[in-house]
Amino acid sequence: MAYNLLKGKKGIIFGALDNKSIAWHIAELAREEGATFTLSNTLSAQRFGQIDELAEKCDSLVIPADATSIKDLNEVFSKSMEFLGGKVDFVLHSIGMSLNVRKKRVYNDVDYDYYRKTLDISAVSFHKMLQVANKLDAINEWGSIIALSYIAAQRTLYAYNDMADAKSLLESIARSFGYIYGRDKKIRINTISQSPTLTTAGSGVKAMGGLMDFTDRMSPLGNADAAECANFCISMFSDLSRKITMQNLYHDGGFSSMGMSQKAMSMYNKSFNSESQEG
Ligand SMILES: NC(=O)c1ccc[n+]([C@@H]2O[C@H](COP(=O)([O-])OP(=O)(O)OC[C@H]3O[C@@H](n4cnc5c(N)ncnc54)[C@H](O)[C@@H]3O)[C@@H](O)[C@H]2O)c1
Repeated sequence: MAYNLLKGKKGIIFGALDNKSIAWHIAELAREEGATFTLSNTLSAQRFGQIDELAEKCDSLVIPADATSIKDLNEVFSKSMEFLGGKVDFVLHSIGMSLNVRKKRVYNDVDYDYYRKTLDISAVSFHKMLQVANKLDAINEWGSIIALSYIAAQRTLYAYNDMADAKSLLESIARSFGYIYGRDKKIRINTISQSPTLTTAGSGVKAMGGLMDFTDRMSPLGNADAAECANFCISMFSDLSRKITMQNLYHDGGFSSMGMSQKAMSMYNKSFNSESQEG
């Protein structure tokens, strides 16, 4: 059921690759809720993914960009304002990539060139986006900007590797720029820390199946899926959340506040039983 929460609002959505992407779900729901927006992703993502299909469905325009390039980002914001007929009201940063994870370089044996790229693509790109948009004065008063994060920014989770460092930086950028944007333009900036979700980026994390099962058992409400993340993002883009800024908001079914749950404990005990049966 649509509530028209984004009626008349304009935006830019970075990071929809295919129909599993969290950004894909957010784009579909934003359209349903009355928003118009442009979509952006890398040229290769446009070639190999399904973003053109999404653009057609949402009456949107794809503006290819490498989010680490200031020149490309300038183009995204300028062309978006042209296409949408004015400044935007919301921006979604849904971008993450680690070559160390992809190439199976563990945290105590990272390649430092890959490490630099992880930080640039997954975190510094957010800073670049905010700086470019600020200089172009591309965002309306009371606009809302969101980047997607993960609890590995606060807690160590096996195999998340250098993406944990990127997420810490991403959340810090949201706070630092959140102050400046709030003070100067009444624009809010937040990160949403989402449950593990099966997407192309998510599947790259080693032992993702086990991790998702664990967090699901640990969370009183269970894992939040991509469609539920879209619901939360839309409410954060809407006028109903105007005074929330500089926050990292957990959207994880309660996982971040748990230590041990009954469900996880029973699985843990089972593993002891099977160990003793194995002898
Ligand atoms: N899937 C999960 O378990 C999970 C959990 C919490 C947070 N997140 C975060 O959600 C966001 C979206 O990821 P997803 O899970 O939807 O996966 P996804 O693979 O669908 O999205 C990642 C996107 O990043 C884009 N990207 C990579 N390099 C880029 C670059 N240089 N310039 C521009 N775009 C680039 C990819 O093309 C892709 O569209 C990421 O920030 C991710 O870390 C994911």
